[in-house]
Amino acid sequence: MEIRTLESREREAVLELLDAWELPDGWRGRDFFRRYMEDDPSFRDENFWVAAEGARLVSCVQIFPRRLRLNGGEVGLGGIGSVFTHPEGRGSGAASAVLRAAEDDMRGRGLALGLLFTGRIPFYERLGWIAWPFSNALYIAQEADAGAAAEGVELDAFDLARDLADVCDLHAGYSAERSGSVVRDDAAWEGNLKVAGNPDEDFRVARRDGEVVAYARFIALEGHPILAEFGRGPRDEDALAALLSRALAERGGGYGPAPADASLEAGLLAHGVEVRPMGDPNTMLRCLDAEALLAAAGAERAEGESEADLLRRVLPPERALFWPADRF
Ligand SMILES: CC(C)(COP(=O)(O)OP(=O)(O)OC[C@H]1O[C@@H](n2cnc3c(N)ncnc32)[C@H](O)[C@@H]1OP(=O)(O)O)[C@@H](O)C(=O)NCCC(=O)NCCS
Repeated sequence: MEIRTLESREREAVLELLDAWELPDGWRGRDFFRRYMEDDPSFRDENFWVAAEGARLVSCVQIFPRRLRLNGGEVGLGGIGSVFTHPEGRGSGAASAVLRAAEDDMRGRGLALGLLFTGRIPFYERLGWIAWPFSNALYIAQEADAGAAAEGVELDAFDLARDLADVCDLHAGYSAERSGSVVRDDAAWEGNLKVAGNPDEDFRVARRDGEVVAYARFIALEGHPILAEFGRGPRDEDALAALLSRALAERGGGYGPAPADASLEAGLLAHGVEVRPMGDPNTMLRCLDAEALLAAAGAERAEGESEADLLRRVLPPERALFWPADRF
């Protein structure tokens, strides 16, 4: 078995391999994963590691390079996704070998941290990954009149042409204070708007004097409403609480990152939305380069510290978040 990166003539072949993955929400594997090939500006053939038996692709792993906010700075992140072995090739070490190769590659590229989402925690734990229960919450909307608009605030649907620049500014400002969120430039935003939905998203804004002061994005996963991202201006707690509570009431609640600011939680409660903490059970991290991670976090090495303790020190799960809109 040969472990190597994808050749450009093999793009359809790797999508054909991924087509054997039985996915929820009516997706064909090849259509679901094609979006990450055609719409994600970070896509490169070299980001796909594969195991091949002759001309046949047996297993694959895809690297999603990102910049992650960390203690006011940034760190290179290697997102791992599209991990799949053909059913006939399983249990002989193919995925483990391909993942190892992808990890070495990421390390070599200066991506200090690995991150993935999975329902198979023990498989990755055996390979050195650590479950990372980012602080999520269940949002329970109890009152039918939740979300009466704040004074002078208009709740509306997101309008790409009109609102994108305002939303980008709000995202950069609000997420800047949050370790774990992904930095997006214009190209990343363009790609994100294409791939974040499942396949669509419910993207809402709150405007004051025509300007967007808060926004919220929802997606449905297997019928469950997921709060994929939100943000607000520095003095717009009321607008965000009104926007979220209206949307949550209409959607029958939601699950997503917990509010990091106490004022948002109080505002939601005032609108009849209860926030129940519930750790994220699917996210895993791996320290790929301790020195680079420490440098990015502006932290000193501690004698005898384990990889897990180092990660806990620089990216404590209870104080960090990863917006579901950035999932891969
Ligand atoms: C998860 C998945 C990628 C694993 O692929 P794989 O190629 O079978 O993985 P490996 O062979 O490296 O490891 C599988 C198991 O075989 C074991 N194994 C590895 N090499 C082995 C060998 N030479 N002999 C016997 N067993 C071996 C591993 O320890 C592992 O055990 P575990 O399942 O109890 O953890 C594959 O099952 C799959 O595609 N599943 C559907 C998609 C999916 O769930 N993707 C991951 C979600 S993020």
